[in-house]
Amino acid sequence: MRFLFSVASAAAVLAATPLVRAFASFAGTNSYYIAALPQNERLALLQSMKNADMKVLRTFVQGVSAGAKNSSNGDLPDLEPNAIGEYDDTILNAIDQLMVEAHDYGIKLLICVYDKNVLASHGPYHDTYGEEGFYTSDDARYNFNQRITYMLNGHKNALLDNKPWSTLGDYIFGFGVMNEPMINQGPDFFKGHLDWVCQTAMQIRGNVGNPNQLIFSGGNSAATSVQSAFFSSDCPVDVVEIHDYTDAYDQYLPDAISQAQAAGKKLIVGEWGSLYGSGRDANLRDNMQKLNRYGVPWLYWEFITNDDPHWGEDYEINVIGETDADYQTVKGFAQAALALTDAPFDFSASL
Ligand SMILES: *[C@@H]1O[C@H](CO)[C@@H](O)[C@H](O)[C@H]1NC(C)=O
Repeated sequence: MRFLFSVASAAAVLAATPLVRAFASFAGTNSYYIAALPQNERLALLQSMKNADMKVLRTFVQGVSAGAKNSSNGDLPDLEPNAIGEYDDTILNAIDQLMVEAHDYGIKLLICVYDKNVLASHGPYHDTYGEEGFYTSDDARYNFNQRITYMLNGHKNALLDNKPWSTLGDYIFGFGVMNEPMINQGPDFFKGHLDWVCQTAMQIRGNVGNPNQLIFSGGNSAATSVQSAFFSSDCPVDVVEIHDYTDAYDQYLPDAISQAQAAGKKLIVGEWGSLYGSGRDANLRDNMQKLNRYGVPWLYWEFITNDDPHWGEDYEINVIGETDADYQTVKGFAQAALALTDAPFDFSASL
């Protein structure tokens, strides 16, 4: 009797215990202008990522000016350089080339469909709607939706059998609704217009049938990035994207991980970086130890292919020659991320 009871209660305990699932994590980096770099520098950046076991490169569809971070990149016009709805495929063609190159290094692209810095400073959306108007006007919504549809299904990659980006899941990890939507307007405006993120995600999802091409919320400032609206099943954001330059992970990541798991969604730290200067090495290690302990994937901001000019927002690491000690530090933790076996989110179908 006692034996039978034990068997029965053991079975009951087993039945009540949720299946514990655990996964690898991964790391990657950002370069918003890599598509404009000379090919030898693009390949050197990709090689440095591959050597660090990095899997994802985050980049933007936006116009870039020559000499970003004092690199040797040239000018690259935005998809809509002059007027809304007048598409210039130059940047899309450059990203077509980049995704083929990245694939050779086992790396996929996370593509942001636009950038808040461009919106803030120039271009037809800036001129027509202004920043707040871009997020609140129905006309802007319509026009931005057309941009998204053109990018994902109108344009074709001539290097890949003229396939549209919506079908290139072997090359494209996913799409961000925009880089840091509404971050310039402050947290109250952002929280008042979270629908913009979900509606943009809906427009992307309406164009992309493959659920393994993930949709990202684009990031905001640290904990503000994590909004419960994004965990709703009505909001087609798959991955809530966090940007954190404040090292505040311990304050919000445990709760954010629980919320994401409960919703069947995922988290990524899509941007973080350590400022150049004294204490950088310790700060790099501290952040990456934390991120790997939580098992949340992370993308460093950012790798560059020239001597760091130490301009403003000085988070860059030069990967040319792979001799920079900070590159080596990031590399070690990136390899450790991919080697994890207890991470909370399963990205394997998309990597
Ligand atoms: C920028 O690049 C040029 C050309 O390589 C170099 O001569 C100059 O010193 C760089 N500037 C800074 C601030 O690093």
